[in-house]
Amino acid sequence: MAAGIRLQGLTHVFGGAPEPLTALAGIDLAIGPGEFACVVGPTGCGKTTLLRIVAGLVRPTGGAVVLGSAVVSGPQTTTGMVFQQYSLLPWRNVLDNVAFGLELRGVGRAERRRRAAGLLELVGLSGFGRRRPYELSGGMQQRVAIARALATEPDLLLLDEPFGALDERTRHRLQDELLAIWQRTGKTVLFVTHNIDEAVYLGDRVVVMADRPGRVAAEFRLDLPRPRDRMDGRFVGALLAVRGVLERVMSEEEVREETQNRGGYRAEKPADRGPACCGR
Ligand SMILES: Nc1ncnc2c1ncn2[C@@H]1O[C@H](COP(=O)(O)OP(=O)(O)O)[C@@H](O)[C@H]1O
Ligand SMILES: [Mg+2]
Repeated sequence: MAAGIRLQGLTHVFGGAPEPLTALAGIDLAIGPGEFACVVGPTGCGKTTLLRIVAGLVRPTGGAVVLGSAVVSGPQTTTGMVFQQYSLLPWRNVLDNVAFGLELRGVGRAERRRRAAGLLELVGLSGFGRRRPYELSGGMQQRVAIARALATEPDLLLLDEPFGALDERTRHRLQDELLAIWQRTGKTVLFVTHNIDEAVYLGDRVVVMADRPGRVAAEFRLDLPRPRDRMDGRFVGALLAVRGVLERVMSEEEVREETQNRGGYRAEKPADRGPACCGR
């Protein structure tokens, strides 16, 4: 089953020294059931915070997340999460890592092993159930993490830069595997990355975030046919459009840092500086 999600005026302020930090400011977003949505944005723009709020691990200071028809108010059993770090339990073998969530739910040993074995097959790792995580490559460990996230049959799959630590070839292979799993299971997916190519390759929708405070700078709906071809003109066009927004967002950031570093004065409207090539 898949559930849509709606973020309504989502705001989050971290309290603390030296001053409170507004990590997210008024994020509005709607992702349909079964949709594959990607979020790209510079480091520190609040992507992880956003995912943790959607997962119910962090309570937002303002606004709401609606999953299906219910407001998220605590950790969700209907949500599966995959992190950048492989985060497998090193003392458990692969099968028991995948079965961990089922164990917490009191599913019997035989049943949870049966389901875990099915999921290992889904991610192309049948035969590796008895291995320990350290015996697997990074790409294989991340496939185990995906299988584990799917084990409790979540309505929504959240992935936080899951392929960020992998080399390009492995990353491309896992992207295709994730798409195949998505197509087979029909899950709603919210996928965070700072890699534009990855977002455009995977997403039905690409949301570009800006930082300070974290907010939505632009949203792209991608109707490119699948499987996507990175050499296709439309793919390249979409890539350049997303990159354009992201570069604008990041250059605003640079200008702000530059002016802040000088001390004594700062630009009122950093964007007014114009393109760097004009040397105003
Ligand atoms: N627990 C926390 N307490 C205080 N500040 C935090 C905490 N977690 C994240 N932040 C800050 O919130 C901002 C957004 O962080 P994060 O969501 O991790 O961004 P991203 O995942 O896009 O890199 C950053 O400035 C970060 O330093
Ligand atoms: Mg992050």
